[in-house]
Amino acid sequence: MHKGFVAGSGLRFTVGASRPTENLANTCNNCHGMNGVSVGPSMPSIGGLSEAYLKNIMLQWKSGERYSATMGRLIKGYSDEQIAALATHFSKLPWTPWCSRPTPACSPRQGRQRSLRDLPR
Ligand code: HEC
Repeated sequence: MHKGFVAGSGLRFTVGASRPTENLANTCNNCHGMNGVSVGPSMPSIGGLSEAYLKNIMLQWKSGERYSATMGRLIKGYSDEQIAALATHFSKLPWTPWCSRPTPACSPRQGRQRSLRDLPR
């Protein structure tokens, strides 16, 4: 019997509210850094990329149209609505390349080039 679950259940659906989107976005921080700012050259920054780009690349991974060992598997766990919300969220953050203080080994320009946008498709 699961009577207690239905009766008095405080379940609320807050689709589109900003809090759940932030919670979703926090799961990306482990790899992409706080606020989508990458901490190293092997990981692209995602904060501040265009909303259309973010949404399209995630939907392409989900459908299998585009391959990524990591993102392809991960993004299948997200609904199209969640992907759209994530794209909106990250597009509103400022763009910061993986190294914001230029050194000979690492310039902000290189950081930007780390975006898959600039790689041949
Ligand atoms: C386990 C580590 C990991 C997590 C967690 C992760 N990503 Fe990624 N992400 C990657 C890797 C690695 C790449 C580079 C793509 C590749 O090599 O296939 C990438 C690439 C991307 C790109 C493309 C960036 C570009 O410059 O083109 C986007 C957009 C993206 N991830 C969004 C997200 C979002 C949104 C989340 C959270 C829902 C997330 N990622 C969580 C590892 C991760």
